[in-house]
Amino acid sequence: MSSLQPPTNKCRIAVFVSGNGTNLQALVDHCKSGDIKGEIAAVVSNVKYAFALTRARNENIETLIFEPDQKSSRTELGFKIAKALKERNIDLICLAGYMMKIEPSLIRAFPNRIINIHPALLPKYGGKGMFGHHVHEAVITAKEKESGCTVHLVDEQFDHGPILGQAKVLVSPDETPESLAEKIYPKEHDLYVSIVKKICSGALNLDTVPPVTEPS
Ligand code: GRF
Repeated sequence: MSSLQPPTNKCRIAVFVSGNGTNLQALVDHCKSGDIKGEIAAVVSNVKYAFALTRARNENIETLIFEPDQKSSRTELGFKIAKALKERNIDLICLAGYMMKIEPSLIRAFPNRIINIHPALLPKYGGKGMFGHHVHEAVITAKEKESGCTVHLVDEQFDHGPILGQAKVLVSPDETPESLAEKIYPKEHDLYVSIVKKICSGALNLDTVPPVTEPS
């Protein structure tokens, strides 16, 4: 596994997507401009028709589709994805709206090399079922004054690994899930770009990030 502190080499990034891909686009744009010292070497999806794949193809980025099927177990799927990414010398995996839980087999193949973006201030409003508008609905129902987004390392639990960065927005009294999502998206793009930039430049060393310890 590369140290991710390449003096001259670009960090090779795989982005995992299932939907629209606005975070993917932000990462692509900032790699192209040279702001991020990296390149999006592959885009992985579990959804054949995800618009994010069209974005990738428009940028001439290789797309890899791994749909779960009856023939192979989830563990095997994890191994298959890991093998494909190792063959492509991937240094960093960025989950960007990927709607499948990451298999432990894949996490073990890329220890401390998988990060995710979540549209809330973790550890609140994360976990199973907390995605898309469900997150924003829960935040509004709880009458939170602020929300935002979080980039974190991925471990074997949903939305759980060590937090690498957060950005906040204010929740207005008349907020709707749609208006809140609209406020948070630009923050997501900026936050994800800034964290990936730090990782690729070596300013943030993922090997020194301590794991989450539960209070005893
Ligand atoms: C974002 O809100 C992200 O935080 C969450 O899924 C959404 C993906 O949006 N994990 P997009 O596909 O990047 O537009």
